[in-house]
Amino acid sequence: MSERAIIELKNITKIFGESPEEALQLLKKGLSKSDVQAQSGQVVALNDVSLSVNRGEVFVVMGLSGSGKSTLIRHINRLIDPTSGSVVVNGRDILDMAVEDLRTYRRTEIAMVFQNFGLLPHRSVLENVAYGLEIRGVSKPKRRKTAFEWIETVGLKGYENSRPHELSGGQKQRVGLARALAMDSEVLLMDEAFSALDPLIRSDMQEQLLDLQKKLKKTIFFITHDFNEAIRLGDRVALLNEGELVQIGRPEEIILQPANQYVVDFVRDVNRARVIKVGAIMGKDETTPCEVAVDQSASCEDVLPLFATHDWVGVVNEKNERVGSISAKQVISALARHQATIS
Ligand SMILES: Nc1ncnc2c1ncn2[C@@H]1O[C@H](COP(=O)(O)OP(=O)(O)O)[C@@H](O)[C@H]1O
Ligand SMILES: [Mg+2]
Repeated sequence: MSERAIIELKNITKIFGESPEEALQLLKKGLSKSDVQAQSGQVVALNDVSLSVNRGEVFVVMGLSGSGKSTLIRHINRLIDPTSGSVVVNGRDILDMAVEDLRTYRRTEIAMVFQNFGLLPHRSVLENVAYGLEIRGVSKPKRRKTAFEWIETVGLKGYENSRPHELSGGQKQRVGLARALAMDSEVLLMDEAFSALDPLIRSDMQEQLLDLQKKLKKTIFFITHDFNEAIRLGDRVALLNEGELVQIGRPEEIILQPANQYVVDFVRDVNRARVIKVGAIMGKDETTPCEVAVDQSASCEDVLPLFATHDWVGVVNEKNERVGSISAKQVISALARHQATIS
């Protein structure tokens, strides 16, 4: 296991049904998910999925409904055992864990945020946020203090004594997030956590998560069916189609080099100007004289206005060292690739 990897899924295949062995054999012969289902009546939810998540990154799994996303995330908290393959978290194979070990693992190493919030209706916001700590046996004063802090962090100060039914969808999910963060576990699992929210609220939540993550540097395994959400949030994004991994990469890699037509179809609707980073498309020459410079993590959208008054813009790294330069032509051609849209 590489030093940076915290979650390693290796060759995970999951078949739902009475005779997974039969389905496995058919898969090995190269039959598709639908052919296996037609011949054996077994559902192939995941087919030979391998991926590793680095410590401190936001790793997004994106795919249409039924592509196997929830099945995948449930392997990490071991609500599901694979038909074949292994799940290693923090260097330990969680499939080998005994009951007690597994319980401790779930209470301390991972925390989950659910799509439907999963709040206890008769408990206050404070009690909901403190709930996981209560289960863990943390004393009442300590868990109240921790809960208060996280409620404030997610912007719900003053709502400590409210009940879930008094809150909007966005507020409920802030409670869900605060409850997960209060667990202080290194890994946060989020299965379509923002999918039930209205677009504007959802965008706010995305922004808040990114803001929090700058400070917290958790490992976040985030599931979504929304490509724009995936590329906004993900340090890396994995695309799942019919239980198979189609592509893994940084957002700009996926947008600039989509692996196949399935990915191209998602990429088409994306605002590339906002996603493609200058560092991914700049020229590497450091000698062209430039009067202005931008950071390599700036987006095309950020840099475009500068070309009104400059032919070339320098590019610098986080230490403010010159690493390249970029022209309007380079930006336009990057955006034009694969029928780009600038909105
Ligand atoms: N408990 C189950 N029993 C049988 N089939 C299941 C079960 N859970 C999921 N599936 C099937 O596995 C596939 C993947 O489902 P799921 O992981 O829920 O997809 P997603 O979360 O991407 O919508 C689907 O075809 C779904 O019908
Ligand atoms: Mg799902």
